[in-house]
Amino acid sequence: MLYGKTISIIFASSVFASPICENRSLLVIGKDGDIPWRGKIPSDMERFVGLTEYDSVVMGRKTWDSIPPKFRPLANRQNIVLTNNPRFTTGNSWVVVAHSLEEAMRSSMSETVWIMGGAQIYALALPMTDEIHWTMIYEKFKGGDTFFPGSPNYIMGDWKSSYFQFFKAGEIGAERDQVNSAYNVLRRRTALCG
Ligand SMILES: NC(=O)c1ccc[n+]([C@@H]2O[C@H](COP(=O)([O-])OP(=O)(O)OC[C@H]3O[C@@H](n4cnc5c(N)ncnc54)[C@H](OP(=O)(O)O)[C@@H]3O)[C@@H](O)[C@H]2O)c1
Repeated sequence: MLYGKTISIIFASSVFASPICENRSLLVIGKDGDIPWRGKIPSDMERFVGLTEYDSVVMGRKTWDSIPPKFRPLANRQNIVLTNNPRFTTGNSWVVVAHSLEEAMRSSMSETVWIMGGAQIYALALPMTDEIHWTMIYEKFKGGDTFFPGSPNYIMGDWKSSYFQFFKAGEIGAERDQVNSAYNVLRRRTALCG
């Protein structure tokens, strides 16, 4: 716990890591400024809404841009957008624009701060993250261009699962899903100090 808050990363990726170079595979989280499985896993979106509702969500400016204007700011949550651009504005006074992760944390009004991506913001927050909420998608997606900053080996080595639930597409809890997935909550094997 830093800043007196629980910092939780929330992300989705294929369980099948993509080779990006020799001996290195990473989990794809995005392609062309979007997520490759858009619309295929409604249960993931419903879980995201349920978990983050009434809390702060922190996102990078590119992830903000990827949300269709009619859905942003995300309703019933404190939206915090990180940018290095001092002139950036969302045009919505309810949205907090922060210029560092520390500023984002200090602006947050909830006990849990949800780090909702993308890759640059996951990389910034990972060293101080308490929990990772990972939706694991059992399908391969080609041509991803944005990757979760921790390799699968890092995730399995430094983190351990505290909750795991499998969802079969079309069955209970995943009635409208088109692909199988699992929800995996990970905690650090060694807790952070401070
Ligand atoms: N699978 C998932 O769970 C998931 C979740 C979220 C997003 N995504 C995907 O991820 C992709 C976007 O990720 P991304 O890594 O390209 O971009 P991003 O992390 O969403 O945003 C990057 C932007 O954040 C700002 N930023 C970065 N570091 C900063 C710092 N230290 N201080 C202040 N601002 C900082 C900069 O904004 P400025 O350029 O304005 O300075 C930078 O361009 C998209 O494809 C999206 O669909 C996937």
